[in-house]
Amino acid sequence: MALVVLDPSAFNRIRMWLNKRCGMHYPEKKQELLLQRLTRVCEQQKISNLVELANAVENPELHELHSVVIDVASTNHTYFFREPQVLNYFQEVILPTLNSNDVRVWSAAASTGDEAYTIAMIAAEVNGMEWVKNNLSILGTDINKVVIAHAELAIYRQTALEHTATDILKRYFESEGEGQHRVNKSIRNVCTFRTMNLKTQPYPFKQPFDVVFCRNVLYYFDEAHQQEIIENIYDVTKDGGWMLTSVTVTLRHLKTRWINVGSGIYRKDLNHVY
Ligand SMILES: C[S@@+](CC[C@H](N)C(=O)[O-])C[C@H]1O[C@@H](n2cnc3c(N)ncnc32)[C@H](O)[C@@H]1O
Repeated sequence: MALVVLDPSAFNRIRMWLNKRCGMHYPEKKQELLLQRLTRVCEQQKISNLVELANAVENPELHELHSVVIDVASTNHTYFFREPQVLNYFQEVILPTLNSNDVRVWSAAASTGDEAYTIAMIAAEVNGMEWVKNNLSILGTDINKVVIAHAELAIYRQTALEHTATDILKRYFESEGEGQHRVNKSIRNVCTFRTMNLKTQPYPFKQPFDVVFCRNVLYYFDEAHQQEIIENIYDVTKDGGWMLTSVTVTLRHLKTRWINVGSGIYRKDLNHVY
């Protein structure tokens, strides 16, 4: 695919728009990647150059085009049972403390849903499917509506399941043929998916969450947006609740009310310790 010609000023306008609209931060070293992605938008939308595209993204009425640019610009890589270190902490330390009959978990950058379904499967393994059905609800949100549609469909290729144990595969998936697997209905019923921009304020939740997974997304944001997002998450988390980021993300440079209790593990109000 031949890349669209790089017009630095138009390119920068699009970069700034992405940053302002959804916090995405494309540093200099990722210029080539963004250019490839924008080339795809230009081809799909029959837009002939970056100036035309920059004018279109800055036009507040072109909602469909905005959504296409955001979908293409987001990095959605994910898979089931990603980062066992954080998941083990969830399973061994956090899950045993969640004993209300309305346990609410939020997968805040859910991508295709692999994380939300993984959480439901872990809970089912530890507490049983009956407990999951009666006590747990998981919300997955993402800015990208294409991945949210995929999450709702819940059909995955083998590549998403390479870290999934065979017995888990047998218990919680149904074969769809051609190497594809669908999450079974009992697990699907526990998970709801919605599009949501983490930059939108205030967060639109009536009830606070026990646990928020915000993994592998914060590093796409600049410091100011990271700060804003983790504080917003704090405000929608129950006292004593948790935020799990990925082990590769450090928030040490940020001023936050969260208390860091381990690599990628944060807690609200540690006075309520288990
Ligand atoms: C790399 S995936 C992470 C998926 C999963 N949490 C994991 O750890 O495997 C990052 C996701 O963040 C989403 N994202 C990026 N900016 C966002 C924003 N402003 N609001 C909500 N989601 C966003 C992307 O669309 C993408 O699906």
